[in-house]
Amino acid sequence: MNSEPVLEAINQQEWIEPVADGLGSAVQGAYKAGGSAGQKVKNFMHGTWLGHQLHPVITDVPIGSWTTAFVLDVIEAATGRKEYGKGADVAVGLGILGALASAAAGLTDWSDTDGRARKVGVVHGLLNITATALYIASWFMRKSGKRGSGRTLAWLGYAISGSAAYLGGALVYTEKIGVDHAPREEMPDNFIPVLPDADLPEGKLVRAAAGEVKILLVRRGENIYALSETCSHLGGPLAEGKLEGDSVVCPWHGSRFTLQDGSVLDGPATHPQPCLEARVRGGYIEVRVNKE
Ligand code: FES
Repeated sequence: MNSEPVLEAINQQEWIEPVADGLGSAVQGAYKAGGSAGQKVKNFMHGTWLGHQLHPVITDVPIGSWTTAFVLDVIEAATGRKEYGKGADVAVGLGILGALASAAAGLTDWSDTDGRARKVGVVHGLLNITATALYIASWFMRKSGKRGSGRTLAWLGYAISGSAAYLGGALVYTEKIGVDHAPREEMPDNFIPVLPDADLPEGKLVRAAAGEVKILLVRRGENIYALSETCSHLGGPLAEGKLEGDSVVCPWHGSRFTLQDGSVLDGPATHPQPCLEARVRGGYIEVRVNKE
């Protein structure tokens, strides 16, 4: 099914904008208020340590648990065998815990998105909140012996979480949230000149081009560093960011990468920046893909 009409319909909803602004500021403000500890927690939630976003890893817990609960509930309803109901209750509870953890990671990623993806993310989150609330209500119903109502609420929650998962997929495959935006394939295999050596001052971020690929060059003392200039998070222009010691900070959402090897020091990025080998020949800086 083509997701474009659904995404565009969401994008037309003006009420989402103020909700997104308020929530986004609150999330970013909370992490900033935590200082360096807050940044560490934020990095953890993004999955910077994992080299992959954490959110889609955790979503498997509620989806798997609630699918299990659905099957066991159906068997209990069809056969009247209570042991299946007990298994369903455990799966519902496990799914609720997974949904809460998944929401924390997803909210962190979402707070560093823009434009249409940000609006779609709000609807994705609201659907998931609704589904989780239904599962929590279902859990209490089950505990109070109202198994039929508990199952009905869970089935409703399952349908709604399916819609949320559909939008989650669209956020990745259509809006390209969570995918690597750095151009890895197009890096030059052989050294090519990209900038006169005299045009690279000490300690400045300078944009150059190797064919179609934008390159970030930085001179630090004896060393010349060359990285892809396109941020792996959402394609931000690193040459317009700032230099912090031996690292560069993206101007769009603050991801921080080392100059030496492009590894991620601070998220939201989870993929490292591609690095190139740089040398000076005949007064020109030349770069090629790092072959080490
Ligand atoms: S584009 Fe988001 S941190 Fe660079």
